[in-house]
Amino acid sequence: MKTRYLASLLLIIALLLVTDTAQAHANLVISVPAANAVLHLAPEEIRLWFSERLEPQFSSITLLNSQGDRVETTASLVDSVDPTQLSVKPPRTLPNDVYTVSWQVISADDGHPSKGSFSFTIGDTDRAGKAVNLTDSSISVTSAGIRTFNLWTLALLVGGIGFWLFTWSPAVPQSNPALERRMNILIAVGWVLVGFGSVFMLLLQTSTTANVSLIEAIGSPILGSIIVGTRYGLLWMVRVALWILIGIVLWWPTVSKWRLWVALVIGVGLLLTNSLFSHASAASDETATVFSDWLHLLSTALWVGGLVQFVNVIGALRKQSPSATGTAARTVGYFSNYARICVVSLIITGSYAAWLQVGSISALLTTLYGQSLLMKLIFFLPLLGLAAINLFVTQRKLNAGESLWVGRLRELVGVEIILTLGVLIAVGAMTSSSPARTAYAAQQPSDSSAAQPTPYSDMSMLDDVHVGFDVVPGWVGVNTFTVTLATFEGAWIPDATLVRLRFESEDNPSLGRSELKLEHTQDGTYTARGANISLPGKWKVRVNIQRPNAYDTVTDFFPAAVIAPQASDPAPPLSDRVVALSAVGLLGLIAGGYSAMRSSFRPLRADALLSLGLIALGILMLLSVARLTG
Ligand code: HEM
Repeated sequence: MKTRYLASLLLIIALLLVTDTAQAHANLVISVPAANAVLHLAPEEIRLWFSERLEPQFSSITLLNSQGDRVETTASLVDSVDPTQLSVKPPRTLPNDVYTVSWQVISADDGHPSKGSFSFTIGDTDRAGKAVNLTDSSISVTSAGIRTFNLWTLALLVGGIGFWLFTWSPAVPQSNPALERRMNILIAVGWVLVGFGSVFMLLLQTSTTANVSLIEAIGSPILGSIIVGTRYGLLWMVRVALWILIGIVLWWPTVSKWRLWVALVIGVGLLLTNSLFSHASAASDETATVFSDWLHLLSTALWVGGLVQFVNVIGALRKQSPSATGTAARTVGYFSNYARICVVSLIITGSYAAWLQVGSISALLTTLYGQSLLMKLIFFLPLLGLAAINLFVTQRKLNAGESLWVGRLRELVGVEIILTLGVLIAVGAMTSSSPARTAYAAQQPSDSSAAQPTPYSDMSMLDDVHVGFDVVPGWVGVNTFTVTLATFEGAWIPDATLVRLRFESEDNPSLGRSELKLEHTQDGTYTARGANISLPGKWKVRVNIQRPNAYDTVTDFFPAAVIAPQASDPAPPLSDRVVALSAVGLLGLIAGGYSAMRSSFRPLRADALLSLGLIALGILMLLSVARLTG
């Protein structure tokens, strides 16, 4: 029997090793200058828009010339207003050449690294390189392994406690010190392993952020700044604090059932720290989506951890009293009571997550994330079958007093545990890779007909002043406005006391005027950012310049603005979100309501608590619908 378990375990790991490569997160949505752009002038700024919020400390742009030499720029800056934007300012005097913009970012939403590059050309086009928008990423087995270990140990700890409270205590009311000691040991092992899991997860985050191996991450200088300076670090510290708290509670001298309840509640909080850093936290309708992921994780923990604790006690029970069929039957009964609602909750929250993160059959079949999910479902289906056998056959046989089935029960649960391990390894690969929706969108050829950024640049000469005027990216919305002043002899004018822009929409005169004062930055350059160009169409921008001992200079420019293209935003459209949220919301309410009635609302039962979770999920989903359609 042992060799069969070992063989199937090795088979599962081997199967998943072949699915190793994947795509990473925080994808580049659009850039100014655009990939392959050919510019006449050096860009005032290089700005990149990403699909997720960025960690300022660990996100950067490097500019290289065609020789591969690094070009000095200002420090990379994550926009304080919109942290999905990253920018640098190159020198104003960039010579004609082909430049490569190489970027490396860490998502503040789910901590995953991604990097890539593209190029643009200043001056003659024939040297323009046809660089593509490269997003290179691969995920080592280490990442999937550590995430699987993390999920499994969380399940062992929380599910181990849950089994004792929701299955063993009601099924075996009289004390059984030997078996309780066994359960305590398994929970203690789970607690210690979660401690290791926390360290491994931090090292994994450091190694991917610093691009070093796991071993090198131990001594990496940025480990400290990740802990104290990033959202991931904050959540990690909360996780460790909760872990220590559980340890104190578990080892509290007084042995009472309340100790287990307190530990369980803290354990459920611990799971939340994991969900707050999963793909769900980077998705739309964040509150409902993170809650759904949390419920998914909690159902997993109670089911999978419960199965391990089950095998742990049923073997010893059989040794203690070979004819313990009654106890075994009651244990199966209580466990199945909440395993059933765990499975229902997993299917409801899993289907929502699958819709959100995958979204189409082609994304399911052509991306690694999608293939990992398929792998997961391949392990899940037989799992359902086995659970049904235990519910409908094993329990009946045990109730009939057939002691042979106590041994069979242990074997069946053993196979279930192996299959759940397969499911969790697939989840390890999924949570280590870019969601299928994003990866699939990135695989699609970029829509060349989409409107490209149209930076506006013009110059006028009046009195004794050259006035240059740039608007970047030239779309409706937030733009960077730059006025460059120089004398006819070519000397910069750095001492203007006022450089003010007055905006009027030529196509919508009723809009009225708005103003923007520019700040001096360097040489004869004055800049400011603003959303004054708020509608598409032609605009009149009056530039008013005041200089000491000189008459005011006033000149007009006429940029035309277009709506910024929503380039390949993989997020699901609003209409689909409303349908999905409504469907899952109703399902949650119906399934939660039905099983709450079945549990006759006895609050301290797992099925009642999980039903409450499903009802809360339903309410949160429908509240999101109300907010979206409100
Ligand atoms: C219909 C069946 C299921 C579907 C469609 C499904 C789908 C998903 C999806 C799409 C995710 C999101 C992964 C991510 O963060 O990108 C997920 C997460 C997860 N699933 Fe499932 N799942 C199902 C059943 C199960 C089962 C049976 C288990 C365990 C036995 C399980 C355990 C997990 C775990 C532990 C996570 C990670 C949650 C996190 O990191 O916060 N799932 N699932």
